[in-house]
Amino acid sequence: MAMLEVKDLEVYYGMIQAIKGISFEVNKGEVIALIGANGAGKTTTLHTITGLLSPKKGSVIFEGKDITKIPAHKIVSMGMAHVPEGRRVFSDLSVYENLKLGAYTRKDKENLNKDLESIYERFPRLAERKNQSAGTLSGGEQQMLAMGRALMSKPSIVLMDEPSMGLSPILVNEIFDIIESISKTGTTVLLVEQNAKKALSIADRAYVLETGKIVTSGNASDLLEDDSIKKAYLGE
Ligand SMILES: Nc1ncnc2c1ncn2[C@@H]1O[C@H](COP(=O)(O)OP(=O)(O)OP(=O)(O)O)[C@@H](O)[C@H]1O
Ligand SMILES: [Mg+2]
Repeated sequence: MAMLEVKDLEVYYGMIQAIKGISFEVNKGEVIALIGANGAGKTTTLHTITGLLSPKKGSVIFEGKDITKIPAHKIVSMGMAHVPEGRRVFSDLSVYENLKLGAYTRKDKENLNKDLESIYERFPRLAERKNQSAGTLSGGEQQMLAMGRALMSKPSIVLMDEPSMGLSPILVNEIFDIIESISKTGTTVLLVEQNAKKALSIADRAYVLETGKIVTSGNASDLLEDDSIKKAYLGE
């Protein structure tokens, strides 16, 4: 059984159909990339999975449970975390306070300090800046904070929306290394990216979204070699 199953999803904004019947699966331990151009429907798909939007048709099954009608905060407590597009950290709160908020749905509060320490180990820049307000962090640091905050909920799966957006090439590499290390510690990853080359280089499998439909899918390594993917998404 797949850890996450999206079935025949159709999502509208008013009269406009953004998602036109997509189905895909994420298995435990995988890194799955969802790639596609601006407006393809990547963010809409993530928002529907995490309960921020409701689909007109179709369903989302997470660890065998139908979560299509479950509200977002409950889905977080079931073990699904979301690192939103554009980071969305709480600017006026400190790094530490942002991280603590990531754990708000957890019942095992006694382990929080230990988990904070492991986040600071993974992101040493956040440790150095724990009392700095999040709004004054650089873009890359804010991305790390958004990831750290998501990890504080101890998710079994984390959904990331364009983590490399707006970052310098060095930081892009750093963020992708972090995503790989998150995956290696056993967390399943659904990664939305416009940086298709980097996403495919760390993913196991990928789905290509075009105007609300999945047009191609396969092993990431095969897609990296695919001529039409190269032309359309890899700038080769
Ligand atoms: N709140 C909204 N109201 C109306 N239309 C919307 C809304 N949000 C998104 N859309 C439309 O839905 C389609 C899919 O948008 P979505 O944000 O999911 O794309 P995306 O693949 O994430 O794009 P990007 O790479 O630019 O982030 C687009 O045509 C967009 O204009
Ligand atoms: Mg988007």
